[in-house]
Amino acid sequence: MEQYIIKGGNPLVGEVEIGGAKNAALAILSAAIMTDETVLIDNLPDVNDINVLLDAIMGIGASVHRVDRHTVRINGKGVSNFKIEYEYMKKIRASYYLLGALLGKYKRAEVALPGGCNIGSRPIDQHLKGFRALGADVEIEHGKIIAEADRLVGKHIYFDVVSVGATINVMMAATMAEGLTILENVAKEPHVVDVANFLNSMGANIRGAGTDVIKIRGVQRFHRTEYSVIPDQIEAGTFMFAAAATRGDVTVCNVIPKHLEATVAKLLEIGCEVEEFDDAVRVVSKGNLKSTHVKTLPYPGFPTDMQPQIGVTLALCRGTSMVTESIFENHFKYLEELARMGANIKVEGNSATIEGVRRFSGARISAPDLRAGAALCIAGLAADGITIVDDIVYIQRGYERFEEKLRSLGAIMERVSSEKDIRKFTLKVS
Ligand code: EPZ
Repeated sequence: MEQYIIKGGNPLVGEVEIGGAKNAALAILSAAIMTDETVLIDNLPDVNDINVLLDAIMGIGASVHRVDRHTVRINGKGVSNFKIEYEYMKKIRASYYLLGALLGKYKRAEVALPGGCNIGSRPIDQHLKGFRALGADVEIEHGKIIAEADRLVGKHIYFDVVSVGATINVMMAATMAEGLTILENVAKEPHVVDVANFLNSMGANIRGAGTDVIKIRGVQRFHRTEYSVIPDQIEAGTFMFAAAATRGDVTVCNVIPKHLEATVAKLLEIGCEVEEFDDAVRVVSKGNLKSTHVKTLPYPGFPTDMQPQIGVTLALCRGTSMVTESIFENHFKYLEELARMGANIKVEGNSATIEGVRRFSGARISAPDLRAGAALCIAGLAADGITIVDDIVYIQRGYERFEEKLRSLGAIMERVSSEKDIRKFTLKVS
């Protein structure tokens, strides 16, 4: 198993290019099979989750041509198999977006039921509620979701829970339902808007994405398009908090500052200097950061995918901070690892009370999930001594060239896969 080994203490300084948004790209790639014509998609992040989904899309018969690391050409004309195997769902939950795409275009789909994951049980009842409302017969048997419909008819659907996945999945299916579909209590994340824009570029008729109500008028078919995925606000925020925690000076480039407002607000509250440009944001931290409180909420609130990154940073801020996690029930596992690096934290239910400490001390830790793994690397970068992060396969699911980008900002870190490599690195940096 590969690990990251980090020698902490260096402030991160410089500029870093941000890639395409993984959580927009996963839905956009799935939606691309809804036309029989060729779709060109660029600014894709070159990360494991994207590559697994492309395999799943090929697996149902679509043609997929990698133009380069960040660009793909897809043609869904050859789709003949409407079953997404468990092996793909096990690797990435977002394979369930193929359910909405296949149901919308072919009126049938069979997808393995996604399990939970390290951050929570991750139910998909709202997805199924939406499909059923549109007229699909949805059965769950032998660990599979089987969805079929003679026809899909537009409906007025009110989600019980604000869900990114359910909003996108049902929106996708509704683009080819007959008549008007109205979705309420929807997610408003930038990647929901990006998927709606992509579908509209293929000929869909979606209005209101990014607001509380999305209206969709069904169409018969989609046509070819070329589309560029929006920048990844979570990757950008991860590097912004890395600058804060390491007392650095980092500019994240190729971003949409509007998508980073909740993150910027918190960085200012703890005492960072932030400068915004058209497509870049600079974060400067001179240390002596102060505590604040944060609660994760659906967009435009503070994103749950940034909760571990701010949690690590707050553990180095003078005073007492409160972090409340309102989206997932198990998103604090990283705090146990952080305590082993000297953080002073008390977790009660979905709230964590964090007493800032002056420094962390390096330790051997493991990444519990994608975002927490990235946050624990930030902790290692800010710590005294050597930190080894295990299970970095989680991090590689969603961060492209993570250690290269950090090294370009002055991080002393390497990807290793043996005790011998660890000894070599330790000798080299001591
Ligand atoms: C998406 O997951 C993201 N994944 C997650 O990012 C992100 O944390 C999450 O949205 C919230 O922003 C992708 O986009 C691939 P939800 P999703 O449905 O769609 C409950 C990452 O790090 N819920 O918005 O699965 C659910 O339990 C990943 O890139 C239901 O109750 O999240 C949760 O409490 C991790 N029923 C809340 O809604 C449902 O049918 C929000 O979940 C669906 C969700």
